[in-house]
Amino acid sequence: MNLTFNKCDIHQSTDDCTAVFVYQDRSTFSRQVKAIQLKLRTTIPAVDTGDFKGKDGQSTVLYVKRSASLRRYILIGLGEQQRLSAERIRRAAAIAARKARSLHASSLSLMVPVPSQRFGEAVAALAEGAYLSLYRFDKYLTKEKDSPSGVETLTICEPRGANARQGKRIVDRTKILCEATVLARDLGNAPGNEIYPETLADAARASSRRGAYDASVLDEHEIKNLGMGGVLGVSQGSAHPPRFIILEYGNPGRRPVVLVGKGVTFDSGGISIKPSAGMAEMKMDMSGAAAVIGTFEAVSRLKLPVHIIGLIPAVENMPSGSSIRPGDILRHYNGKTSEVDNTDAEGRLILADALAYAEQYKPTAVIDLATLTGAVVVALGHHATGMMGNDRELMRQLRQAGEATYERLWELPLFDEYEKLVKSDIADVKNVGGRWAGAITGAMFLKKFVGSYKWAHLDIAGTAILEEPGSYTTRGASGVGVRLLTEFLRRWK
Ligand code: BES
Ligand code: MN
Ligand code: ZN
Repeated sequence: MNLTFNKCDIHQSTDDCTAVFVYQDRSTFSRQVKAIQLKLRTTIPAVDTGDFKGKDGQSTVLYVKRSASLRRYILIGLGEQQRLSAERIRRAAAIAARKARSLHASSLSLMVPVPSQRFGEAVAALAEGAYLSLYRFDKYLTKEKDSPSGVETLTICEPRGANARQGKRIVDRTKILCEATVLARDLGNAPGNEIYPETLADAARASSRRGAYDASVLDEHEIKNLGMGGVLGVSQGSAHPPRFIILEYGNPGRRPVVLVGKGVTFDSGGISIKPSAGMAEMKMDMSGAAAVIGTFEAVSRLKLPVHIIGLIPAVENMPSGSSIRPGDILRHYNGKTSEVDNTDAEGRLILADALAYAEQYKPTAVIDLATLTGAVVVALGHHATGMMGNDRELMRQLRQAGEATYERLWELPLFDEYEKLVKSDIADVKNVGGRWAGAITGAMFLKKFVGSYKWAHLDIAGTAILEEPGSYTTRGASGVGVRLLTEFLRRWK
């Protein structure tokens, strides 16, 4: 996808479609409409009938004869100017982009909404909403020869070109972020027969070459020598051996932020097997890993002045004669033991090793992302990631990055009283906590393996895997975490 910034007014646009944004407020609306009519020398019937009033999310297509050709203009409502937000702009841009696609346009320009107080934010939101809304996971669809290939060129336009340099810089940056988000989506949507631990490691290596960051991969033998009993245990029932992926970017002289991603490339549940309905979704159980790889690609290509380490335990959770059993006891990287009560609570078993491994880096913060529990989806649905942790300031800053990117976080408590739910009589901790507070008991298990660092756990089970398309997401993998973490790292001191 081409995404650029350009100086251009609506009557000069030569693209297949041009999106123009208007506010609902009476005087602004009529002034904007008047300007459009004047420049394009046309009436706007949908405005004259009152069908189009500029309400948030409203749209209408306008066909205009210009010299020899007919041009399409998509008018999009932004609602009241007072209530404008980056998210509203993303969604409005997404409506325009999907409309353009449905009209078989191959190029679309989007006019920066005026007036908009924060130019940079508006440009980024336009680019993001349009780009991400056009995502499709179609590499396995064998195409018909004459089917249109979709919108290929997006141009963010500003008539006066006053902020051209800033606009270009922001659009270039946004393109990198969107490409990294798409990478995370593609990894999530890829089926389990394509992405398994070895190929997830290959994908991380390929990304590290694109971003010029470091990737090293530990094999089963090395994982065993390190004593990562969780990674080893969960993977032992699979024909695919585990991998432990270590990423590094930035100045090694600075204490790093460590990003940990759950990399279960397929979660059948193991011996505690899942019901078959919906099991296919569990190809996306490596979405935490995908978010970490995507973030590394974005941060490295953006050359952010940070030092980050990525840790990805990658396994496939399968039932077989060699699988771990309920009742088994595993010994983790830091020597602590866990009782496996349910082999479907496998994510925490592999994250335990990674969180313990993180301590050696003396990190300023450790953030793990995991599709850890169905319980967090029951609690928050698909609109917020569950956040738990041990440091208020870290969680506050993550929450703020969540507001800015609209990858929103909501905190759940880790009160001491929850600890006894994961108590085991025969090991240091038990991997399930019973019926209640499932998202929290998942985190209480992880907490046992957290070192002396500041830590936040993001349970993305609901936000990484979507059952329905959103304004700029599709059914399936959302790529959540990439924009969030990149924004967080941009701000973190
Ligand atoms: N990967 C699943 C969690 C999940 C469920 C992610 C639905 C996305 C959508 C995880 O490994 C799991 O199976 N968790 C169990 C834990 C339970 C056995 C304590 C769960 O949530 O049921
Ligand atoms: Mn599971
Ligand atoms: Zn899982």
